Amino acid sequence: MTNKAAKIYIAGHNGMVGSAIWRNLEAKGYSNLVGASSKEVDLCNQQAVNDFIATTKPEIIIDAAAKVGGILANNDFPYQFLMENMQIQNNLIDAAHRTNVSKFIFLGSSCIYPKLAPQPLKEDYLLTDSLEPTNEWYALAKISGVKLCQAIRNQFQKDFVSLMPTNLYGTHDNFDLKSSHVLPAMIRKFHEAKHNQNAAVVLWGSGTPMREFLFVDDMAAAVVFALENKLPDYLYNVGTGEDLTIKDLATTIQKIVGHTGEIVWDDSKPDGTPRKLMDVSKMHALGWKHQVQLEEGIQKTYNWFLENIDNFKQIDYK
Ligand SMILES: NC(=O)c1ccc[n+]([C@@H]2O[C@H](COP(=O)([O-])OP(=O)(O)OC[C@H]3O[C@@H](n4cnc5c(N)ncnc54)[C@H](OP(=O)(O)O)[C@@H]3O)[C@@H](O)[C@H]2O)c1
Repeated sequence: MTNKAAKIYIAGHNGMVGSAIWRNLEAKGYSNLVGASSKEVDLCNQQAVNDFIATTKPEIIIDAAAKVGGILANNDFPYQFLMENMQIQNNLIDAAHRTNVSKFIFLGSSCIYPKLAPQPLKEDYLLTDSLEPTNEWYALAKISGVKLCQAIRNQFQKDFVSLMPTNLYGTHDNFDLKSSHVLPAMIRKFHEAKHNQNAAVVLWGSGTPMREFLFVDDMAAAVVFALENKLPDYLYNVGTGEDLTIKDLATTIQKIVGHTGEIVWDDSKPDGTPRKLMDVSKMHALGWKHQVQLEEGIQKTYNWFLENIDNFKQIDYK
């Protein structure tokens, strides 16, 4: 049992995942949570991170801070995606190691796996082939984070563990069309088209690729599961283990939003990998499983979108 008074620092606690982890821990009675915005502590600045960790002395660190974005953002800002993600995680991991933090949970992404790896993606496929070129910058940073945690685990027998989420969505998502992921981008497009006399919605690609989506509260539950249990291995996939076509995703969102216009598939735009599904049997074997089904999660996300429509995150990648 993790002590409910343990000091837990959630790096990135204002983000979609970090805020869900915060809510989950608070609801379970954890009373000593710590967070700092990027304005208060720039995690790319090693001195600032060392000072913050030395002053706050967390017992546990959850690293949910990162530069996150869709294909466009990854493609346009490769330097920032590689450099800033490495800086953030290196500074946190090193400070955690040197101050003897008892547990460190690192969040990566399914894009760490090779582009042409067999499906569903097993943890063992890491570093067996080339990455998807459009997001290799982000993926390389995340792989080095996984490996740093594994090195600390092996060499110093510390409880540093990495969780690789599939595509996440939910409350506090990013709805900025220049940098958002596919699911929140669709919610926004269908919503705006509905209010524009049900105009046609143009979506990228053929709609045939298959993708997996996990509601962010389920991700938070997986992180808290990793916090409360000593996981025996260094790397775990977190997802639903279920996928659907982008076309089916679009019609599901269209129905929930209430758009009645046409959907146009712009197949001059790239499709990306035909299928991307996580093998989540390792987490299932330990006792964690997702709870929120896709339609319910999309409805919750759309409700949050409507409540927060005036203040969406706008991310400046420069
Ligand atoms: N979203 C997904 O679909 C998805 C999928 C797989 C994995 N993940 C992983 O899950 C984690 C969280 O993602 P998310 O979707 O929650 O992202 P997010 O909503 O963009 O939140 C990221 C957080 O990181 C913080 N941050 C970024 N740069 C920082 C810096 N230099 N100094 C301090 N804080 C900084 C931001 O803090 P401020 O708000 O204070 O600026 C922000 O709150 C990431 O590791 C990501 O790779 C996400």
